[in-house]
Amino acid sequence: MKILLIGKSGQLGSSILSENTSNVIFAPDRVDLDVENLSSFEVALNDIKPDVVINTAAFHNVPICEIEPHRAFDINVIAVRNLALACKKANALFVTFSTDYVFGGEKNTPYIESDCPKPLQMYGISRLAGELAVMSAALENSIIIRTCGLYGLSGAASKGGNFVDKRILDAETNTLIEMGCDQVVSPTFSKDLAVAVLRLIQHPELKAGIYHLVNEGECTWYEFTKAIYELSGLSVKVTPVDRGGMSGSMRRPLYSVLANTKALTLGVTLPHWRDALSRFLKEKYEVS
Ligand SMILES: NC(=O)c1ccc[n+]([C@@H]2O[C@H](COP(=O)([O-])OP(=O)(O)OC[C@H]3O[C@@H](n4cnc5c(N)ncnc54)[C@H](OP(=O)(O)O)[C@@H]3O)[C@@H](O)[C@H]2O)c1
Repeated sequence: MKILLIGKSGQLGSSILSENTSNVIFAPDRVDLDVENLSSFEVALNDIKPDVVINTAAFHNVPICEIEPHRAFDINVIAVRNLALACKKANALFVTFSTDYVFGGEKNTPYIESDCPKPLQMYGISRLAGELAVMSAALENSIIIRTCGLYGLSGAASKGGNFVDKRILDAETNTLIEMGCDQVVSPTFSKDLAVAVLRLIQHPELKAGIYHLVNEGECTWYEFTKAIYELSGLSVKVTPVDRGGMSGSMRRPLYSVLANTKALTLGVTLPHWRDALSRFLKEKYEVS
């Protein structure tokens, strides 16, 4: 299978490159392929003639989306719709990503793919609009994968590093930190997500549409932080704080755990988040 990958320097993009064993992947630099420049994408499609395009690019700094909603819509909606349409014309499968933040958090059991979205902030609104734009433009050749709380061996540059890296950094200067216990999430190791994505797109019975792919289990950011320090052997005391899902005036879902229901029917599963975190810490921080 010939794959055109967008976002090779990111957490997920770099994991897809390192986990791939059986496909030929072309991964242009951002200067050569910018998702906001449709003609650069069409040139790449024409040159490479991929079977599959995997787009990991997004405008996903959640607080900044509140301040710059037009940028969020330009990238997360307009650009993604254009990629989907171009893939349809080129007869390539289009794989793109979305988020648990399309949900409002009113449930207390994991969200399945067909649950009704109800985003609470501009970021989630732009991602839901992106999903709808892709489905209206090119449903038959598009796969939308919702994931949550990604951390990878290469940190998310656009967010100033990932959650785990930031907590490890915190431990250098703090013996006591506060962490939110109000949001329940499914933190996901980008390596596990990459393996699952590669398995999913090669599945002979794959059908177009929305899929959830996250590490199994659920936890609050407080519980996740405690696990980071326990597994790393760092003595930082973590105090739970309940902010009721608020970040300043912006709302976040109190519960956004995803169930990988459709992937499971194809035999694609991910390990539990604690197992994933332990492997991440061993690989990146050489925790024994
Ligand atoms: N991170 C999370 O917690 C999380 C949670 C739920 C869903 N997701 C979704 O999962 C996907 C992958 O996330 P990630 O954490 O791997 O993201 P990431 O680490 O920020 O990587 C994004 C990649 O896309 C590239 N990119 C950004 N804008 C671009 C543009 N206009 N044209 C071409 N390339 C561009 C970036 O290049 P530069 O290095 O040059 O910026 C980077 O290589 C995204 O759709 C994200 O929204 C992430």
